[in-house]
Amino acid sequence: MKKIKIGVLVSGRGSNLQAVIDNIEQGRLSAEVAVVISDQSDAFALERARTHNIAAVHVSGRGYKGRREEYDNLLVQELRKYGVDLVILAGFMRIITGVLVQAFPNRIMNIHPALLPSFPGLHVQQAAIEHGVKFSGCTVHFVDEGMDTGPIIIQAVVPVLDGDSPDTLAARILKQEHKIFSRAIQLFAEGRLKVEGRRVVVSGSAAASDDFLINP
Ligand code: GRF
Repeated sequence: MKKIKIGVLVSGRGSNLQAVIDNIEQGRLSAEVAVVISDQSDAFALERARTHNIAAVHVSGRGYKGRREEYDNLLVQELRKYGVDLVILAGFMRIITGVLVQAFPNRIMNIHPALLPSFPGLHVQQAAIEHGVKFSGCTVHFVDEGMDTGPIIIQAVVPVLDGDSPDTLAARILKQEHKIFSRAIQLFAEGRLKVEGRRVVVSGSAAASDDFLINP
């Protein structure tokens, strides 16, 4: 199978990036990371890219306040330079604009640490605990021009336990993020994702089981 080229946008530690790199190296993903781009020069994710001989590019976001489109133009140029088929937002902490979305329609994926459409935005593990939900999880979705609103590809569910802090819940969710992001990328690489309005239809997926989750 042809390998797709991924461009990964990051701002921080890059554990999701690492999971993708590991899955590629273990032959579980028909993809190659063509470039990692960070708006932060000191993002550990850039370090991870260099360790694996992947192009690591810093595109500073400084001075683009109120000029997000111009910044996104720089990203588009950089991503095109590396011939990217799919853009992955892996802890990229900037709001992106239509410039980027329209350059890669239904070809940008984001990972969010909650079960969208519940708890979009920031500090979502704390919000989930404060709301008292019994389950949370993570969502991989295509990116549209809204904030965490695009068509949902995959979700994973984890219980919220008594005594959870935002950190313990985040750690439980993160483990699942590392699995479902790669799974979504592989489905894309296999050409199995079709966006129909708000729904992402996954061809050839196994029939849903009757299992369900109860907590507590
Ligand atoms: C993850 O929790 C992801 O869901 C959110 O930002 C965090 C990034 O973590 N969008 P990492 O940089 O991949 O470790």
